[in-house]
Amino acid sequence: MLFCHATPQRLTGDTKTYPVVFFSIKVYTYIMRLRNVPGAQETVANSPYCEMEPERRRGSWRDFFEHPSPLHLEIGCGKGGFLVRKAQLHPEISYLGLEKYTSILVRAVQKQAQLELPNLRLVRAEAEILPMVFAPGEVERIYLNFSDPWPKERHTNKRLTSAAFLRRYEEILIPGGRVEFKTDNEPLFDFSLEQLETAGWEAEIISRDLHADEELMRENCLTEYEERFSAMGKPIFYTRIRKKKGDK
Ligand SMILES: C[S@@+](CC[C@H](N)C(=O)[O-])C[C@H]1O[C@@H](n2cnc3c(N)ncnc32)[C@H](O)[C@@H]1O
Repeated sequence: MLFCHATPQRLTGDTKTYPVVFFSIKVYTYIMRLRNVPGAQETVANSPYCEMEPERRRGSWRDFFEHPSPLHLEIGCGKGGFLVRKAQLHPEISYLGLEKYTSILVRAVQKQAQLELPNLRLVRAEAEILPMVFAPGEVERIYLNFSDPWPKERHTNKRLTSAAFLRRYEEILIPGGRVEFKTDNEPLFDFSLEQLETAGWEAEIISRDLHADEELMRENCLTEYEERFSAMGKPIFYTRIRKKKGDK
């Protein structure tokens, strides 16, 4: 995960250099604090709502839920606020939150322990191994909310919207499955739109100010980061993308 500096830096991609302002030191300190949550490992490992050995559910994720239904996956779900809202609004969908840090995931696990939503489950895993965790066509939709920007050029392939990750998504999504991406980071957003072309994907919706779009906002569920950034007056960038029809 990428951490923050108070000064403006640059985000570099394959072909371009982008200006970027990193997250504040305050956010950095907040996340570091979360890394040392006492008892987090135990809470997550003992939760019936969280899978710690994700490969064993490959091909049968729907059985993890009370009522099998189309599977929507958030990658990097953090503390789970977005998924809780989505799951409450759409009981007909199964929502799975994937997060690599136990110390952050524990907050989502605690929320779910209170709410016991039948259509919300969590998994501790790294997105890099997605094709080992999900069978082809097992996921209907993927959400990427405020993904880490990884500004150094040598880390381009770690960005969750890089062509390298789009290829992994293609493997696990149903034909015509969509990815929705939200960020406050304009350079990362521009990079992501460029990567679509490289990977043979297309954007169905692009908004450079999601919160000003009444229609899109009707379906929008806020994430913890989104609440924070929009309260600071920052525009939220949003796109919904899919693999181009007929593109292999
Ligand atoms: C900036 S936070 C955003 C959290 C949440 N989606 C939100 O919008 O409030 C990014 C989250 O993605 C997680 N993450 C980053 N890279 C990941 C990866 N490769 N696999 C799984 N989780 C990842 C981080 O640990 C962190 O919790």
